[in-house]
Amino acid sequence: MRTLTLWAIAAILPGAFSPVSDLRAKDGEEPPRASKTDKYRLIWTTSPANRVTMGWNQKSGDPGTVHWGETDHGRDAEAYPESLAATRVKEYDGFTNCFAKLEDLKPDTRYYLVISDEHGTSSRFQFQTAPATPQPFTFIAGGDSRNFRDVRIAANMMVEKLRPLFVAFTGDMINKDDAIEWDEWLDDWQHTTSDDGFLIPIVAHRGNHERRPETIPAYFNTPKNAYFSFSVGSDLFRYLALNSEIPAGEKQEKWLDEQLEKYSNSTTHLVAGYHKPMRPHVSKKSEGTNPMQWADNFYEHGLDLALESDSHVMKRTEALKPSSKGHEGFIAAPNDPKATVYIGEGCWGAPLRDNDDNKPWTIASGSFNGFDWIQVSPDKIEVKTVKILNPSKVKRVSPEAPFENPEGITLWEPKSGTVLTIQAD
Ligand SMILES: [Fe+2]
Repeated sequence: MRTLTLWAIAAILPGAFSPVSDLRAKDGEEPPRASKTDKYRLIWTTSPANRVTMGWNQKSGDPGTVHWGETDHGRDAEAYPESLAATRVKEYDGFTNCFAKLEDLKPDTRYYLVISDEHGTSSRFQFQTAPATPQPFTFIAGGDSRNFRDVRIAANMMVEKLRPLFVAFTGDMINKDDAIEWDEWLDDWQHTTSDDGFLIPIVAHRGNHERRPETIPAYFNTPKNAYFSFSVGSDLFRYLALNSEIPAGEKQEKWLDEQLEKYSNSTTHLVAGYHKPMRPHVSKKSEGTNPMQWADNFYEHGLDLALESDSHVMKRTEALKPSSKGHEGFIAAPNDPKATVYIGEGCWGAPLRDNDDNKPWTIASGSFNGFDWIQVSPDKIEVKTVKILNPSKVKRVSPEAPFENPEGITLWEPKSGTVLTIQAD
């Protein structure tokens, strides 16, 4: 399965990535000196129409300052109208993780930013805030990037080609939760950023390989327990990032119920993501007793789609209703507006496993590296599953048709259909 070698080895050179904006300078002027920053990540937790967090590693010196605005001033930090010093600095694994929470942003707006420090200025980056009115958008969901850097980089390069609004990364970024692996993972993540510095936001979830409870908050500035939620397009879409590695009941379930209570009536599409699947499609995996506690809450409030990971296979289910009379606690309920479709189960470079545990309500499963590419529209959610093959041969999606297959892409084509559609109800 791992056929991505030559180009991947070339791409894997540490620190090889640098946006071309690094090289830009005004005519006749010396380019600004470089800041001592790296390992950039744009992070979403709450209210992404108005708020994003810029994260980076400060390699030396005092934590830098983010400068941003709606006009591209290249690397001229002082020309940007807004600036903010790191609002949180977290020493972890020997990294100085800096975070600046940029607030009061305009929805659906392009921003440009640089980071300056005592040494100089970073590359010029850009990002797009979430829309605040219902309109179609795409996002990518996947997880389990923990072992093979060539596949992980290829998948990250595919993210760059598809330019989704955000990536829901449902856990197990790394294998060993240590400094060496995070050093590599954060460098590899830079491949999601285009040559023109376009940052794709990450929505970070905790997996079992994020062994230390502090890890996800330390690298991605999430709330302490790593569960949170946000809307995109006002009432169009509500996303719930859950944590399957702590008790699903107790405080988390109370929070989940409050969220579902508050948003289920007014929201068109409710989607949840978490690491451990309720019912893995790999026989040697134990059943997801902990997350299974959410199945009734999902059904009661009509959660439309659940994104799972952990097993290193791919699967799609019918819309499911929890039932003690069903198979492993579920029955297919395709015409029930409250039923939930489950997809996943994560392979972004972790060792592939056999998809040897299909259920009567499984509509497709497979064993390959890939992620789900999802378009949310007012009338439906559509899911395509992208195979991680040679991304250098894939063209970038057009901004006018962000869900149209770019040239060179390879999609999973199970018998049940290439596109899984979940109608709004
Ligand atoms: Fe896992």
